[in-house]
Amino acid sequence: MSFFPNKISIRKPDDMHLHLRQGDTLKIVAPESAKWFSRALIMPNTIPPINNSERLIAYRKEIEEATLGSGFSPLMSFKLYPNMKEEDVIKLSEVGAVAGKLYPEGSTTNAEDGVKSYEQIKEALSAMSKLGILLAIHGEKPDSFVLDREKDYLPELFKIIEHFPDLKIVLEHVSCVEAVNAVINGPATLAATITVHHLLITLDDLIGGGLNPHNFCKPVVKTPKDREAIQSAALSGNRKFFFGSDSAPHPETSKLTKSGSAGIFSAPAAFPLLVSFFEKNGSKDLLEDFTSRFGAEFYNLPLNKSIITLERKERKVPEKFSTIVPFMAGSSLEWDIL
Ligand code: NCD
Ligand code: ZN
Repeated sequence: MSFFPNKISIRKPDDMHLHLRQGDTLKIVAPESAKWFSRALIMPNTIPPINNSERLIAYRKEIEEATLGSGFSPLMSFKLYPNMKEEDVIKLSEVGAVAGKLYPEGSTTNAEDGVKSYEQIKEALSAMSKLGILLAIHGEKPDSFVLDREKDYLPELFKIIEHFPDLKIVLEHVSCVEAVNAVINGPATLAATITVHHLLITLDDLIGGGLNPHNFCKPVVKTPKDREAIQSAALSGNRKFFFGSDSAPHPETSKLTKSGSAGIFSAPAAFPLLVSFFEKNGSKDLLEDFTSRFGAEFYNLPLNKSIITLERKERKVPEKFSTIVPFMAGSSLEWDIL
């Protein structure tokens, strides 16, 4: 049991999985991440997708303009597509891409143009392996039963590992006990991000009482046993597990409809929630490793130099950011930026 003092300072964290969208939404949500995080790996599932160097450059500029003066640096990823060529990966590498994202076809928001099998992207994966670009995977088999989708993706993950033993892979937003164990027992080239919602909530918070569409995401939050495995991994000090929020804003109208969008906008609450979780269950050092060290190390990035200071101060999560309802809207947080 650890109790933090009423003020804590830690190395400013990284968010290794973030959706910022574009245009007006980006202008609203990007500053919320820039407030807490020094860097974030920006997901490429925009419309149109970030899948070539011109789009990557323009998207990075849009993010930099929306976060000007905050010290925030976007780390850029691109979306892998069937039959992607080595020369396209080389161009993306030259403009600073650090990861390629594999979305299985139909697995999540804007993944209709995703990949059916890794066989379709072998040329790109081989180029990424040579260039030191990481592979970030949305690890779900879309045609499986919803609670089995991540577990059922693991055989495909093992095939990728076998064919590309030097390729660094991040299994994103890990959500079930089998996937956590696969990462623990996998090679040193395999790591995983953990979100704040998979760390804190279960299916009970989505459908156990009144249906709460604001807790709906892909992969869906699962059982207490799965959550326990995720919590243990985050608290274990194992450098294969690090923070990626998967903060994914959708307008309320897209959430409250008959085919509601998957995605939880957690950026405004994520870091204070992590501080509270590690205060109750871990320690300040484990918090700092999880949010500010292990991700950067896996991505071969220098650690952030800046420091964030938080004070113990009750504050309510706003009900809305424009048309977007955030994670834990209206509930109390225990920590705020000083
Ligand atoms: C994400 C989104 O909305 O872009 N949704 C989600 O439920 N997590 C996509 C993703 O990461 O799956
Ligand atoms: Zn995501």
